[in-house]
Amino acid sequence: MKKILLIFGTRPEAIKMAPVVLRLKEAGRFQVEVAVTAQHREMLDQVLALFGIVPDHDLDLMTPNQDLFDITCRVLTGLKEVLGQERPDLVLVHGDTTTTMAAALAAFYLKIPVGHVEAGLRTRDKHRPYPEEANRHLTGVLADYHFAPTEWAKKNLLAEAVPPERIWVTGNTVIDALQLVASQVTGEADVWEDYLARRYALKLDGRRLLLVTGHRRENFGRPFENICLALRDLMERRTDVHVVYPVHLNPNVQQPVFEILAGSSSVSYGGEGAVHLKSPAGGCLTLLPPLAYAPFVFLMSKCHLVLTDSGGIQEEAPALGKPALVMRDVTERPEGVWAGTVKLVGSDRQQIYQGVSKLLDNPDHYQAMAQAQNPYGDGRAARQIVEIIQGVLQS
Ligand code: UD1
Ligand code: UDP
Repeated sequence: MKKILLIFGTRPEAIKMAPVVLRLKEAGRFQVEVAVTAQHREMLDQVLALFGIVPDHDLDLMTPNQDLFDITCRVLTGLKEVLGQERPDLVLVHGDTTTTMAAALAAFYLKIPVGHVEAGLRTRDKHRPYPEEANRHLTGVLADYHFAPTEWAKKNLLAEAVPPERIWVTGNTVIDALQLVASQVTGEADVWEDYLARRYALKLDGRRLLLVTGHRRENFGRPFENICLALRDLMERRTDVHVVYPVHLNPNVQQPVFEILAGSSSVSYGGEGAVHLKSPAGGCLTLLPPLAYAPFVFLMSKCHLVLTDSGGIQEEAPALGKPALVMRDVTERPEGVWAGTVKLVGSDRQQIYQGVSKLLDNPDHYQAMAQAQNPYGDGRAARQIVEIIQGVLQS
């Protein structure tokens, strides 16, 4: 049997690779192994537990406030040993993290073929998002097989002279993962409301839910402070809304969020570090630790709109019919913008506040964004990838 080694390290890679791992194992035609770099630790483990994936190798490399040199060097030296020992016939990597790029480089150094899942996304601005735009570009140069989620991504690769017979448009595996989990949480609203109430003392009282995430490196510093100030404005002025924000564990995110928001209002505490804030006018904002994927999907399905700078959430929101305001100036996922579900609002305090308010106050605008089509696939991306790999490894 041919051996396939899937390598990933962060939360979003794990969510999007889980359907591929499960399908490859189900196919029963390959020896399937998983190596995690653990560039993320707790946030990765949440996903591994949900999908029942037990890694064959775990580099356990995360350190507090790690920098890009730390990650790259440790992935390369860690994988030198794993790849030397395993000698797989194919390495699969996903997306655009530093794990992705360094894992592709390690495989290339050992002349092991590389398949890139979620290939071809581009902004053509190497600093935005940083370092992801460069990571996916470099991975594309190193990869032998390119699994592009959309036709647009394929065009990007063709423009870089990737041979057409090495590119397949498969849809995005995030839709597979989302469908798997959404089908479990849908119809279990009581269970998940109870989970959030017991674990975090989070009570959904019928106000419209604004779900927030943010973690982009290029937003660190002043842009992130502006984002926090916009959230504070929303809490103070929009008493019809409950802002719920599971805060990324990166210290560059935690520090401004808790400093700017947690001291500003009357505070109460739930379990697991949850913080509930109330403004004098009665507005509410809840800060949570990163949520496991199932409760997060539940909150996405319940929310009125999403405010985010995440990549994956730009793909999930259209699939759930939720308008997404993206706190960036450029996106490598323009399909959501073209479809009408996603709008870029940058990191300007006023612009964020106004973007949210327009969606809250203008039902026609809301409906137009909520009814757009999901451009990222039909939930069969992993199946297609497995079939293609079968063909490629047999030829
Ligand atoms: C990383 C990826 C980014 C991806 C994001 C998804 C890079 C350079 N960045 O950014 O592309 O969009 O993941 O979330 O590849 N931490 C923990 N526990 C965790 C995870 C993170 O404590 O489970 C803290 C640690 O202090 C760690 C820091 O967050 O050093 C930064 O993690 P890192 O992976 O370097 O950056 P992210 O911002 O998470
Ligand atoms: N997500 C999650 N819990 C959270 C926040 C996000 O499970 O508290 C999921 C989200 O649904 C999406 C993925 O994590 O699938 C996105 O991860 P992130 O925003 O960290 O990374 P990006 O997609 O920007 O690389």
